[in-house]
Formats: sequence, C-alpha cells, structure tokens
Amino acid sequence: MSNKIKLGVIGDPIDHSLSPLIHAQFGEAAGLEIDYKAFHVIEKDLDSFIESFFSDGGYGLNVTLPHKLNCLHSADILSSEVELLGAANTLSKNSNNQIIASSTDGIGLIRDCSDKNIEISNKRVLILGAGGASQSIIPAIARMKPTKLMVDNRSPNKIEQLLKKFSSLGLQNFRHSNEPIDIVINATSATLSGSFDWNIENQLNEKTLFYDLSYGKASAKFFSWAGQFSKNRFDGTGMLIAQAAFSFQLWFDMFPDISNIKLSNTDE
Ligand code: ATR
Repeated sequence: MSNKIKLGVIGDPIDHSLSPLIHAQFGEAAGLEIDYKAFHVIEKDLDSFIESFFSDGGYGLNVTLPHKLNCLHSADILSSEVELLGAANTLSKNSNNQIIASSTDGIGLIRDCSDKNIEISNKRVLILGAGGASQSIIPAIARMKPTKLMVDNRSPNKIEQLLKKFSSLGLQNFRHSNEPIDIVINATSATLSGSFDWNIENQLNEKTLFYDLSYGKASAKFFSWAGQFSKNRFDGTGMLIAQAAFSFQLWFDMFPDISNIKLSNTDE
C-alpha cells in the first residue's frame, strides 16, 4: 500500500477537474508525497463514499458540483462560512477524527483580486446569477466593504431569496439601481448554453471591470460581451488556483506558492 497522503475531489461530472494537476504541483513544491485523485461520485453514493474515504485513511477531500450542499450531511463540524452558505468545497479531519466542512471559494476570489490589484472596497459591485456559485462568493465580497453589493438574476424570485438569506450582509437588488457599476462578476452558467447578454449597458463604461467565475474557453462569450464596454476583463483561473491553495492550507497548515502553477489541461 502507498504511504502517500490520500487526497481527492468528488463530483459528477469530474472528468475535466484541474484540481489533481494543481494539487500535485502544490505537493511537489512543499515536498509532500500526496496522491490526489478525481473521483466520480453520484448522489446516491455520496455519504458512503465520504465515510469510507476518511475511514480508509483519506486525509482531505474537495467537493464540487453537485455535492457542495449535500456533503454537509457527512460533516461533524461546519466552519462559520459554511454555516452561512449551507455549502462547502473542502472536507478535512481533525485529531478527534471529526470531519470539518469549509468553503474556500470566496476567499479564493478575494485573494485573486488582491493579486491582480482589483480593489473591491468602495466599489459598486454587481453579481450576475443567484445559484450556488454566486452564493459562495457573496459573504467574502461583503467583508471587503464595497460601497454597494448588488445581485441580478434571470429569475427575479431568486434575487429576493438571496436578499433574505444574506440579509445581514447588506446585499441589494440591482433592479432598484441606476448608478454606474464598477465591477461586474459573472456567476451564471449562461455561457454553457448559448451566447451571453445582460441588458445593463447604460450602467457600464470603459472603467468597469468584468470578472468571470468560469475560466478558459467557457469565458469566451462573457469576454466578448464585456469587450464592447471595457478592456478590463478577467477569468476565474486565478480564483480556481487560489481556492485550491486555501484547501491545501486547511489540510497542511501551509499556503503553497501559487505564482507559477501550470494548467496544461486548460482550453486556453
Ligand atoms: P451554479 O452552482 O453554477 O451557480 P446553479 O445553482 O444552477 O449553478 O445556478 C445557475 C445560475 O445561472 C442561476 O442564477 C441561473 O439563473 P436562473 O436562476 O434564472 O435559472 C443562471 N443562468 C443559467 N443559464 C442562464 C442564461 N441562459 N441566462 C441567464 N442566466 C442563466
């Protein structure tokens, strides 16, 4: 049996996950012998997979779609961020063999913005989308104290649900605003199905900064729409690497060097 530290990511689908590639580089740079694998886990096997992964000596797991919510059933302890979100992307074990659920998505986005000198404080920020991806970043952005944090969504009823869920964070309904927007964050899955368009032209200008939570080819349609207004466009590659780095830090108590990570499987 291998003595390597057993780590992995679970999801459905999972084929295109870049996490094994990223964590292999973190492990190598840190001098740790890790074995990080992508596991295809379907909903009905979720609880039993997590239980046996950890009881068989597994050290840490990342969790991606569609299991970010339901993985909480297997956790003994929820971080305060996970309590707020109702979703997690990282599971680890403490010395009492308890499973701890944490979320590194929001902090990953904030770290990437800081690396790119994207200032959030005192800016008017608009998040497009009200699903899991959007929710996972809202508390972290709110902590950066934007002047306004607004959300818009194709289905308006979900905007109201989000305002209620995050009522303590000062989130606002974009549809009640007519001011210029400084930062637009795309947290929809719209580009998976077709072209991207959002009818907010009169609140955008050449200084508006656009950030897509997806990356590589998936960002092309959002970039093309945003390019009509501004050259300031970023995809989510940096956030992907940074959220992985925060997971690594939760497991090993060290933040890896993220400056030179190669994503040779990307579509870029
Ligand atoms: P995720 O976990 O990736 O956030 P999700 O929870 O299914 O996935 O949420 C998808 C988000 O993308 C939703 O905000 C969805 O809008 P609706 O609530 O109206 O469904 C948004 N979305 C998906 N396809 C879209 C499209 N073609 N145009 C605009 N928004 C879209």
